[in-house]
Amino acid sequence: MSKTRVLTGITTTGTPHLGNYVGAIRPAIAASRSANVESYYFMADYHALIKCDDPARIARSSLEIAATWLACGLDPESVYFYRQSDIPEIPELTWLLTCVTAKGLMNRAHAYKASVDANTAAGEDPDAGITMGLYSYPILMAADILMFNAHKVPVGRDQIQHIEMARDVGARFNHLFGAGREYFTLPEAVTEESVATLPGLDGRKMSKSYDNTVPLFEGGAKKLKETLARIVTDSRLPGEAKDPDSTALMPIYTAFATAEETAEFRAALADGLGWGEAKQRVFERIERDIAPMREKYEALMAQPARIEEILQAGAKRARTMASPFLASLRAAVGLRDYRTQIVAAKGSESGKVAKPQFKQYRENDGRFYFKFVDADQRVLLQSAGFESPKLAGQQIAALRANATLAAGDGYALADGVTAADVEQALAVLAE
Ligand code: TRP
Repeated sequence: MSKTRVLTGITTTGTPHLGNYVGAIRPAIAASRSANVESYYFMADYHALIKCDDPARIARSSLEIAATWLACGLDPESVYFYRQSDIPEIPELTWLLTCVTAKGLMNRAHAYKASVDANTAAGEDPDAGITMGLYSYPILMAADILMFNAHKVPVGRDQIQHIEMARDVGARFNHLFGAGREYFTLPEAVTEESVATLPGLDGRKMSKSYDNTVPLFEGGAKKLKETLARIVTDSRLPGEAKDPDSTALMPIYTAFATAEETAEFRAALADGLGWGEAKQRVFERIERDIAPMREKYEALMAQPARIEEILQAGAKRARTMASPFLASLRAAVGLRDYRTQIVAAKGSESGKVAKPQFKQYRENDGRFYFKFVDADQRVLLQSAGFESPKLAGQQIAALRANATLAAGDGYALADGVTAADVEQALAVLAE
């Protein structure tokens, strides 16, 4: 049974937070351990360029994200783990796909439309500040996915439209160039309902854009503790019963705890546990999971060369798949080796495959000649001049009948041609 290919990219613009860990990293690593899955996880650093023009931040974030995934237990030997920008086949495929993508499809992309709407609302030119990178973002993402023929793409809800676009673009390519072959597998978005989106400090979804995140490793245990202390709670005093559902503390605790631990914590709050004490418990519970990973993270961050090596090896493995696949896609659209050209062109024009041929003609000297050419129109034999077309025809008939060469019979091998070449061509003609 062939494995299900699961692929997802992580845009390298930020520093991983607790919400990324619970919502994406942890479930992805768990899924990568399943036996019938082949996982592809990559740093979407070309995508990062669309959102960020700060080179130091791009570079730093890419390193941090790579170190985070490794520290959290991703095994680079059993998954494909690479940087998007280490796979030159991806931008090349992006162009092939760009040429079959309807502009109207891109006009409908939510992210682009949101920028246009914001400009319009601000009384600006609709396209103010919008780059072609942002506009074409879904095509680059389609190339990420189609390059490896992913079946499933785990993403947040905001990305579902992009997966649908990848399907559209892949199907269009298959239709235009497939000639009966489905080059691309059409991917499916997977949004895990069961994976909680973690609330942030203020109770809204934990997100960089709300500035309400809890860092995963950054700043160490101290920073984790300090940040958790800022979770918004009400003003009930220790000893007063708390509503466990009134604060982000509960779901954050739950994301790390067992069902039993969760029930205990809930009961303690209802029983009057002080908020300060409750925050301490949340910190300790998270720290129990995170501390060993943080130690690995710090060790990795101190050895960027080691991470570089892992990613180079990952890119190499990924390219052993991407490179031959891209070669077949190039040929499909007509970017071909010239040596394969004549046969293909002749075959498609006449609807049949070209064959070797005898060509008879008369020269200015009044004599009758023939040439024998192969399917590529290369001259194999050149005849001497005959008195009549009939004599030339008899030689041709003899060659065709015997399918071998007879010495001294009024023809000669062309330069660089062997007797075996001629006999092979005669055999093709006889078929
Ligand atoms: N656009 C995705 C995001 O911002 C990241 C991404 C890039 C991606 N390429 C991908 C996700 C391919 C899944 C598949 O979350």
